Amino acid sequence: MQSPKRFLGQTDIEITPIGLGSWQFSGSLISTSYWAPLTHVNVDGIVEAACEGGINWFDTAELYGFGRSEKALSHALTASGKSNGDIVIATKWFPAYRTAGWIQRTINKRIENLHPFEVDLHQIHFSNSLSSIEEQMDTMAGLLEQHKIKAIGVSNFSEALLRRAHKKLSERGLPLASVQMRYNILDRSIEKNGVLSAAQELGITVIAYSPLQLGLLSGKFHRQPDLVDKLPRLRKKVIRPMLERSRKLMFEMERIAADYGVTPAQIALNW
Ligand SMILES: NC(=O)c1ccc[n+]([C@@H]2O[C@H](COP(=O)([O-])OP(=O)(O)OC[C@H]3O[C@@H](n4cnc5c(N)ncnc54)[C@H](OP(=O)(O)O)[C@@H]3O)[C@@H](O)[C@H]2O)c1
Repeated sequence: MQSPKRFLGQTDIEITPIGLGSWQFSGSLISTSYWAPLTHVNVDGIVEAACEGGINWFDTAELYGFGRSEKALSHALTASGKSNGDIVIATKWFPAYRTAGWIQRTINKRIENLHPFEVDLHQIHFSNSLSSIEEQMDTMAGLLEQHKIKAIGVSNFSEALLRRAHKKLSERGLPLASVQMRYNILDRSIEKNGVLSAAQELGITVIAYSPLQLGLLSGKFHRQPDLVDKLPRLRKKVIRPMLERSRKLMFEMERIAADYGVTPAQIALNW
């Protein structure tokens, strides 16, 4: 069944309620500490299943294998018979230890890796650039005016920074489309730190990442705790201490899932 679409912030880009993230397609050192490497066949199958399930947008990033995820995503979408314009692509610039000038210097790489798919949404991955948020927003606005991207987003921002980013773009008559934050039933920080209410007030779409808390909310690690031992190092480090404190919640989610004839992962995403 096709889910009704919604607008991405105050842009005319329409997206389905659920998108597919592609951190898992990175195949590089940092990522393999979280995710077992995937073959092209695996990636193509995942993307095809997402498209068949009605998902119309995909999230990737420069940081995800420094281009590997973007290339794998583009390859898989092409293999699924998708053309530019059929789907929406979100990628991200990696700001750590870099000035805003690097946004302009790296955009052609994003475009090349994702070809033939255009960059619909370009996001600032973290708030740790050497440049101010205002300088970064000015550079992003430049890319928009050059038609290299279609919308601007941020990720892992505080409420104060979110407001400053929004203000800078507003002064140029442009919307800040989205803010991507961790948000799931076990981590509701954005409800308390002001990000969610500021986004609602300013018309910025919240993109919830890790909606299954790295797979924990599927319930499989509670059902089969030995699976945790087999996880890559950093993912194990996050999941292991959360198992016990989420046991009661998971039990309740399993019960609700059984009542509705769906899986706990579906309950977590629907929440
Ligand atoms: N902006 C940021 O800083 C940031 C940070 C993190 C993530 N993200 C984005 O958000 C996307 C999604 O978040 P995430 O990858 O952190 O975590 P997630 O969506 O919470 O978990 C995804 C993992 O859960 C497992 N899983 C998914 N569905 C399942 C099911 N039905 N049953 C059992 N296991 C299932 C799979 O891992 P296994 O099969 O290996 O168990 C899958 O790779 C990323 O790909 C990325 O695009 C952004």
